Amino acid sequence: MKIVSIVGARPEFVQAMSVSRAIRENHQEILVHTGQHYDYLMSQAFFDELGIPAPDYNLEVGSGTHGTQTAEMLVRMEEMLLNEKPDLVIIRGDTNSTVAGALAAVKLHIPVAHIEAGERSYNKSMPEEINRLVSDRISDLHFCVSKAAVQRLAEEGIRDTVHWVGDVMLDAMLHARPIAYEKSDVLERNGLEKGSYSLVTVHRAGNTDNSERLRKIVLTLNSTGETVVFPAHPRTRKALERINAKFAGNVRLIDPVAYFDMVVLEDNARLIATDSGGVQREAYFLGKPCITLREETEWTETVEVGWNKLVGVEPEVVLPVWKDFKPTGEQPPIFGTGEAGKEIVRIIEKEYQKQELVAA
Ligand code: UD1
Ligand code: UDP
Repeated sequence: MKIVSIVGARPEFVQAMSVSRAIRENHQEILVHTGQHYDYLMSQAFFDELGIPAPDYNLEVGSGTHGTQTAEMLVRMEEMLLNEKPDLVIIRGDTNSTVAGALAAVKLHIPVAHIEAGERSYNKSMPEEINRLVSDRISDLHFCVSKAAVQRLAEEGIRDTVHWVGDVMLDAMLHARPIAYEKSDVLERNGLEKGSYSLVTVHRAGNTDNSERLRKIVLTLNSTGETVVFPAHPRTRKALERINAKFAGNVRLIDPVAYFDMVVLEDNARLIATDSGGVQREAYFLGKPCITLREETEWTETVEVGWNKLVGVEPEVVLPVWKDFKPTGEQPPIFGTGEAGKEIVRIIEKEYQKQELVAA
């Protein structure tokens, strides 16, 4: 088979690793980077560390409004697909690169497989929710990280094309963790010890574009009374400058870190506070208490089993949880066992052989 794999934003590089390896055992993969993320620490560092092959195409779309960015991707993707004529297009997650890949392919009657299908926040003000709804509706194969996602798709009438395979981000974590400990000096570089700090990431539009919410997050971080390591997404850095945020001495605002550094920072943190989808799941993989700086989450199972708490951004709500949250319950394997990439390719092969993999 000839498979076009679309990536564009930071989590998609992590999600690509194990699938790309599995595809290349017996098939041809054309890896397409939309160029949505482009800074070294937001893009190339992941290819280098995770051994992801260099993209065959970089569409170099860059940043822009949703309309401009998605439209540019669509135009350039269509040209690439007409040139490559693949048997299948793989998209993942919920970014503008995801939805552009889905749209470009279905319009050319090329089947689409969506990895991380069936995630929902049921909050349509999130750009990601629109991207997921559209991508799931027009995809021909749906790979879910959890059984809850399978159930959500069933409720929308999407059933026969749905497979629970586990989370490709767990595949990447299991592969990278031992190497990360060999290669990363992030703890030494920042004078950190195991359990002596909390780790924070914030980048959602709902938190960064809303100055009031961002100010509350800054106030909370300044008031935790412990070292807080805060690798800031470029979007967040700009938003913090816009509100002229001032951090107390306990907060270490640093550039985004590459994946190995991130894995070590996560694995040694006392607590993780985040609005990231990937980081919420990684906290679970590593058995770290996670507090989510949002009002809802797609990863409801992590909340149900008691390892993730939805706290929003009000300091009087967040701070007591920050100090006292110590989950002790079991951690069932909601996200599989780290073999999702292989399983995805196995299912694609089966569907292709049955000649059932045709665009809707
Ligand atoms: C995107 C995804 C989001 C995902 C996140 C992962 C959409 C709608 N959103 O959000 O779902 O969780 O990626 O990180 O697709 N920028 C840089 N350098 C870069 C990349 C971005 O400076 O390499 C800055 C630019 O100012 C840009 C802003 O960050 O305008 C936002 O980037 P964009 O890709 O539009 O959205 P994210 O917030 O990264
Ligand atoms: N990540 C990273 N360095 C950072 C922040 C995040 O390597 O400074 C990794 C993180 O471990 C996870 C992925 O990037 O694998 C998640 O991306 P992000 O939070 O940007 O997006 P989301 O998952 O919310 O879509």
